[in-house]
Amino acid sequence: MKETIEQVRQEILAFPISDAQTLEQFRVRFLGSKGTVKELFGALKTVPNEEKRLVGQLLNDLRKEAEDKLAGAKEGLENATSSASDVDVTRPGEPVALGSRHPLSLVRSEIIAIFERIGYTVSEGPEIEDDWHNFSALNFPPEHPARDMQDTFFIEKGENEMALRTHTSSVQVRVMESSQPPIRTISPGRVYRNEAISARAHCFFHQVEGLYIDKNVSFADLKQTLNYFAQSLFGEKAQIRLRPSYFPFTQPSAEVDVSCTICNAKGCNVCKYTGWLEILGCGMVDPNVLKASGIDPEEYTGFAFGMGIERIAQLKFKVNDLRLYSENDVRFLKQFSGVNF
Ligand code: DAH
Repeated sequence: MKETIEQVRQEILAFPISDAQTLEQFRVRFLGSKGTVKELFGALKTVPNEEKRLVGQLLNDLRKEAEDKLAGAKEGLENATSSASDVDVTRPGEPVALGSRHPLSLVRSEIIAIFERIGYTVSEGPEIEDDWHNFSALNFPPEHPARDMQDTFFIEKGENEMALRTHTSSVQVRVMESSQPPIRTISPGRVYRNEAISARAHCFFHQVEGLYIDKNVSFADLKQTLNYFAQSLFGEKAQIRLRPSYFPFTQPSAEVDVSCTICNAKGCNVCKYTGWLEILGCGMVDPNVLKASGIDPEEYTGFAFGMGIERIAQLKFKVNDLRLYSENDVRFLKQFSGVNF
């Protein structure tokens, strides 16, 4: 009996299991209800009593060995089949959902690129600003009604007056205070005004300020720079016109219109049938501002300009409601995927 058990053990070890069919053959042959192991257990009664315990033990071991081999082979086959059938290595990957750049970022980058080409650097200043940089150094005298042009969010009133900056012109002052001419810089940033939110106004928006200070800078330089800018941004056919205006920090001052890019200056409801769209304010830096910022107005002159990024994006992308820029509506934002200047 012991030899038979050993013989079956060898058969179990040698039995090749390579697929579901041979697995089942193994099970039936060794562990089935008429299988070898069952048969051997049946033969136990013919074994002399004194050997029964030992042979019984050998049979239990044999059965365990067959069961282990069956379970191991089954698991091996399952793993093999799952990797073969569930994963199709030739299938293209799931597309990665790509975001899109915000229209204001696109326009800001474009404006920066245009001015970098003619040697302008980028500078920044704080959004929480003191009275000096936002108003006083820019030639807004205390109590001057010009301060009412921009409804300010004050953080602290009185001696240490702090407010959210109402324009990026504050950065002009900071740059002039900390560097010497020649200065050629643009300052993009967020600004705040205490306005009711509507399609045409918002309590925060974005501007780009420009500043050029050197010896003998003239109004003609300003006009050529703006002409170059408008044509780079809106195309070679774009024209500009300057209208006299007033800002406390520039003298003389002008507002700049660009020929309507939407109707090609033929007249439409965006340009209110004038053929022109206002895009920025500008002027020669007032000598008082130069002096306040530590630059000698006898030696240097310069020009400055300031524009709204929302306004430019509105013209480029025909956005008719300012609120869309900050509502995070993906239906709006995804229209700018793939937009590259
Ligand atoms: N700071 C002005 C505004 O927010 C825009 C502006 C006008 C900036 C004329 C300038 C400038 O630098 O020269 O409305």
